[in-house]
Amino acid sequence: MITGGIDVGSLSSEAVLLKDGEILSYSIINTGADARKAAEQVYQTALEKAGLQSSDVDAVVATGYGRLVVPFATKQVTEISCHARGAFFLFPEVRTVIDIGGQDSKVIRIDGRGNVVDFVMNDKCAAGTGRFLEVIARALELSVAELGKEGEKATRVAEISSMCTVFAESEVVSLIAQGVPRPEIVRGLHQAIAERTAGLVQRVGIVPEVVMTGGVAKNSGVVAALSQKLGVKVLVPQEPQIVGALGAALLAQKLAQ
Ligand SMILES: Nc1ncnc2c1ncn2[C@@H]1O[C@H](COP(=O)(O)OP(=O)(O)OP(=O)(O)O)[C@@H](O)[C@H]1O
Ligand SMILES: [Mg+2]
Repeated sequence: MITGGIDVGSLSSEAVLLKDGEILSYSIINTGADARKAAEQVYQTALEKAGLQSSDVDAVVATGYGRLVVPFATKQVTEISCHARGAFFLFPEVRTVIDIGGQDSKVIRIDGRGNVVDFVMNDKCAAGTGRFLEVIARALELSVAELGKEGEKATRVAEISSMCTVFAESEVVSLIAQGVPRPEIVRGLHQAIAERTAGLVQRVGIVPEVVMTGGVAKNSGVVAALSQKLGVKVLVPQEPQIVGALGAALLAQKLAQ
């Protein structure tokens, strides 16, 4: 049986193809302004990588904020269920999943069978999300992919006290003007994200193992700051960005049976 999972996020879209519980291929692209086109493109690329055609696929589940615009989906499922399912597949010991994407962050508690028992979400404010990191990275003339390494160079942590993305950006601009070294500002940025996220985690309670999914998990500085703040080692999958799409492809297996 071959199934597909598509995650159309606010910033990135992913496709995963599964055959009998094994990943055949995956693809990641920027969503851009046309979510439907992104879904079609990312799916097509995954099919090509696996040497398959859409008629070879038994069922497709779509997730993410753009899940309703995926014309070839058999079913739509929320990101909560998909991230939980994907993380549980990769780490059967996981009980807490933290997904930080471009526009929201979520903490999901799951039981020993991979079922969702509780979750909390911050989708009201950019602070604590990937967008926050992007805005500040731009002010520092860095790409988000460079933040992790840059922060490692710091011996001290600059304080970013503002809870608002727009004010935090002004704060960072003035720290730069005061001559505070860039690595210290980056560490302050990671610290701020970790504090926000830890506040969210406390609302559902922290039960190890803790797994982080979504694009921000690619930032080693955020992962380290969060591990320290929570007092547990936060585990990161090899490709954290595809976990939602992987969970969707796993849920599609049930539809195709
Ligand atoms: N290579 C990278 N290194 C570090 N951080 C990264 C990298 N790639 C992406 N990110 C971070 O991941 C964020 C995007 O995460 P992701 O792709 O999970 O978002 P999304 O699923 O589109 O958003 P949402 O789920 O909120 O709709 C970016 O804002 C950025 O901060
Ligand atoms: Mg997402």
